Amino acid sequence: MKSRELPQWSDFWQQGFITTFGPSMPDNYQGAVKEFWRAQFSTLPKGARILDIACGNGAVALLAADISKETGKDFQITGCDLANINDKVHGSDELKELRETITFHSKVANEKMPFKAGSFDLVVSHYGVEYGDLPHSIAEIRRVLVPGGTLVALAHHNDSPLLQAARSESKAYTSVLKELNILGRVRAYFGALGNPANQQELQNAMIKARPLSTSVNEGVATMKKRHPDSDCVKQIQAAINHLAQGAARVESRHRLRTLNAVAQEFDYAAQRLKDMIESGLDDEAIEQLKSLATTSAFSNVYIQPLNDETGRLLAWHIELS
Ligand SMILES: C[S@@+](CC[C@H](N)C(=O)[O-])C[C@H]1O[C@@H](n2cnc3c(N)ncnc32)[C@H](O)[C@@H]1O
Repeated sequence: MKSRELPQWSDFWQQGFITTFGPSMPDNYQGAVKEFWRAQFSTLPKGARILDIACGNGAVALLAADISKETGKDFQITGCDLANINDKVHGSDELKELRETITFHSKVANEKMPFKAGSFDLVVSHYGVEYGDLPHSIAEIRRVLVPGGTLVALAHHNDSPLLQAARSESKAYTSVLKELNILGRVRAYFGALGNPANQQELQNAMIKARPLSTSVNEGVATMKKRHPDSDCVKQIQAAINHLAQGAARVESRHRLRTLNAVAQEFDYAAQRLKDMIESGLDDEAIEQLKSLATTSAFSNVYIQPLNDETGRLLAWHIELS
């Protein structure tokens, strides 16, 4: 993915989530991921300068801040992302206080960062470096690191269960939003309802628009049948239920505006899934990364698959120094 505005991610971070996994991880990364990052930060010397790239709302930077507080090591922690990072996040007061110790920069691409050469001892990335253009990003990371500094990254593995699930959800989005055109069906129905002045007018409009509401119901039934286990389909169904409740109210003049907002959210969610799928690294990409690292003057290259605590493939563990 080339450097550009990323509204699909800015929109996501403006919802205040800490990690990419949103409401399912309200207290930041847990388990093997948390332990992995804590182990990285625990061995750093006092005052170490850490940069978390493609940091989102700063999940990994926060884990570094946690260790800094626990050990009194006064790390200088910076986080940057090409999307807009949110000033405010959901979470405890303690987490919000910790976040105050981190310097965040929005609109910063992995490929071109506004930092002087040799500004950081450690650059970290959790599902981040692989989202940018790797040749430019690796050279840029080398530039902002001190000589002998290290990049530690957990990057999407093409074969991980996470990416397999993303591919299946992405197919479901395409099938429901594009092929079944489910929100287009709702749009046609809402258009036909117009702007009724009272309950009677609404009832009349609903009767006239019955073939269009039937088309929505048929679309919903088909999408449930085609994708019974898909999370995104469950979310689309919940959104349609919510829209239908609005449609049954006379005063709901903003039906189409609400529908447009819902459609935009699903487009962004589908785009984020595509970004994730495209960022996945296969064996060939890893071989290319190894030679890139060498040409970018990294002399130690360690890249291995990493499993989580249940033995599931989590990511590539990448370490360049
Ligand atoms: C999967 S999220 C990971 C966010 C965070 N590291 C975390 O673990 O919660 C990927 C992030 O990469 C960012 N991103 C995508 N392309 C980028 C680029 N070229 N430069 C910088 N950030 C980028 C997106 O805005 C998004 O926040």
